[in-house]
Amino acid sequence: MSSINQALRAALAQRQDLLGELHEQGTDCYRLFHGSQEGAPGLTADRYGPQLLVQSFHQTLERDALLDLHATIQQQLGQELQLVYNDRSQGNSRIDRSDPVYQAEPAALEDQIGHEWGLNYRVRGRHPGQDPLLFLDLRNARGWVKAHSAGKSVLNLFAYTCGVGLCAAAGGASEVVNLDFAEGNLAVGRENGLLNPQLPPMQFIQSDYFPAIRQLAGLPISARRGHKLPHYPRLAQRQFDLVLLDPPAWAKSAFGTVDLQRDYQSLLKPAILATAANGTLICCNNLARVAMDDWREQVLRCAEKLGRPVRDWQVLPPAADFPSHDGQPPLKTLILHF
Ligand SMILES: C[S@@+](CC[C@H](N)C(=O)[O-])C[C@H]1O[C@@H](n2cnc3c(N)ncnc32)[C@H](O)[C@@H]1O
Repeated sequence: MSSINQALRAALAQRQDLLGELHEQGTDCYRLFHGSQEGAPGLTADRYGPQLLVQSFHQTLERDALLDLHATIQQQLGQELQLVYNDRSQGNSRIDRSDPVYQAEPAALEDQIGHEWGLNYRVRGRHPGQDPLLFLDLRNARGWVKAHSAGKSVLNLFAYTCGVGLCAAAGGASEVVNLDFAEGNLAVGRENGLLNPQLPPMQFIQSDYFPAIRQLAGLPISARRGHKLPHYPRLAQRQFDLVLLDPPAWAKSAFGTVDLQRDYQSLLKPAILATAANGTLICCNNLARVAMDDWREQVLRCAEKLGRPVRDWQVLPPAADFPSHDGQPPLKTLILHF
């Protein structure tokens, strides 16, 4: 048995109870193999409903190892899954494979539906973006939002495909606003809304984060010296009961730079101001090299300095399908109650 297969079998054995719980709560999207912590750095295997998405980030997985992995997972789950393999070890390399095993069956590349917390999500093995349409390590945060949004106004910042918004709508939020600058991502969010027709409709704002959140927070928007500001949608100042802030690690736009290592404050400060008194802000930092303790100190200090001290906070770790042996998962989530 290859070392990958051995590691995979151990990982599946570790997940036996978790998978039972997830199936019970209406979830069939989860990580089956988290290579960096389970014996094969740079290799992941995720189930997205009827699909098995295998990704490699460091080197191409040999076809026999890939077929072996697929077979082992199907056998252990007692279920057939359509295989999609995305080799992300070189730019765009996933698209250029001539071997049909690497290409994937046409049926596996059709639009699919996956489930999480009883909700339907659009699943696509390949699409113009690199990442899958649902980030699985944020599942617990989505579950928390679903359980705590009844009657609340909810603002989902860096909404991507609006999974958090969907959970807020399912949890009985009075209003859900999803904000992202990428229309393609919001379009999937709209599709996700349509896949759950029992839910009340959500709102979508296509805008750069900085002008949008600064307007909501009542802060001025200034152009860089000598630069004219591009167009941005106008928004009235207002606050929300529950705000989720889950930015990418780094992104630059005409309005500012998202930089989770050097400058979390410029993202956090307006998000705090857009959170109602007695409201809740869930903030995330997915940069592995930022330690939870340092980041939490920074976050609490920022709130204090703004005159909005945090009354109570809690850490929400990812579920056990994202094990971290040092207790420092890359995705850090803090729930701040004001
Ligand atoms: C890490 S994802 C966020 C994940 C998301 N919260 C979720 O629940 O899956 C990053 C998102 O931020 C968006 N984004 C990046 N820079 C932005 C900016 N300056 N303004 C608005 N959206 C931005 C991207 O389009 C992408 O959808």
